[in-house]
Amino acid sequence: MITAARPHVLIARAVFPEVVDKLRQHFEVEANAADDIWPREELIRRLQGKQGVFTTGSERIDAELLAACPGLKICANMAVGYNNFDVPAMTAAGVLATNAPGVLTETTADMGFALLMAAARRVAEGEHYLRARKWDRWAYDMLIGQDVHGSTLGIIGMGRIGQAIARRGALGFGMKVIYHNRSRLPAADEAAVGARYVSKEELLRTADHVVLVVPYSAESHHTIGAAELALMKPTATLVNIARGGIVDDAALAQALREGRIAAAGLDVFEGEPKVHPDLLTVPNVVLTPHIGSATVPTRKAMANLAADNLIGYLAQGRAVTPLNP
Ligand code: DGY
Repeated sequence: MITAARPHVLIARAVFPEVVDKLRQHFEVEANAADDIWPREELIRRLQGKQGVFTTGSERIDAELLAACPGLKICANMAVGYNNFDVPAMTAAGVLATNAPGVLTETTADMGFALLMAAARRVAEGEHYLRARKWDRWAYDMLIGQDVHGSTLGIIGMGRIGQAIARRGALGFGMKVIYHNRSRLPAADEAAVGARYVSKEELLRTADHVVLVVPYSAESHHTIGAAELALMKPTATLVNIARGGIVDDAALAQALREGRIAAAGLDVFEGEPKVHPDLLTVPNVVLTPHIGSATVPTRKAMANLAADNLIGYLAQGRAVTPLNP
């Protein structure tokens, strides 16, 4: 399957120069140094004659693209999420899909907590207030928010990142942890953080803070919409560090505006990098531009893992983290 000649690899978005150099040791590499987001036709054109592609989540790999790129053998995503991949179509085309699990767990959980703290304690609102030079005195009710310590943390999606958030909540902040997931954790994992499995409805009704960590799929589309927001406490916060589309952003903006929940922290958006205009005008939401995994060591680890998948598969016949082996 893999010829002795050096395989050709496309790096679809700009990445750390040392990772490009590492790939050049094994492959003929075409790299997107300018970091343009290539239109799909251009991506397909550049993929001609390539056996591997390094993707970042912004490239949709589906049956149409695969049919147009018959030489492609592997797509290595520099992300744990892979909703940009049509994995069944890749399997049918004999193309390996890989993602970058594990290396961003703790960093992304940190971001979940950063947004939770910022939303519940109104950090961004306070900063805007101060910068707008509105602060002229201390007041007992100025920007008062909700406690995080000792409260009930509801986690929807209890994979690696969900469990890392549970550990932070239980062990660091003395929170009571409840969770909902497609399947229950083994009893020992639940016991490690004292997490209790509950229905989604019970979680939404009882949690003080709800954090979403489910992968995006047709099934998880609008996991939180108007009906779910209506179940939440008016004092509750909602955090989405998973994927846009898991929350109905228009319904969330309305719930925030009407005070039906207290606050939200969002790192991901439906149709990002566009952001629903209503979210930009409500004060009680903290907005960040999909930076959950954005620390130097973690982004380097993600890039290296994607590169190692290409090297492992195309040069040695075995990927490190295959999704469809
Ligand atoms: C991931 O790895 O899925 C993060 O969202 C970064 O894109």
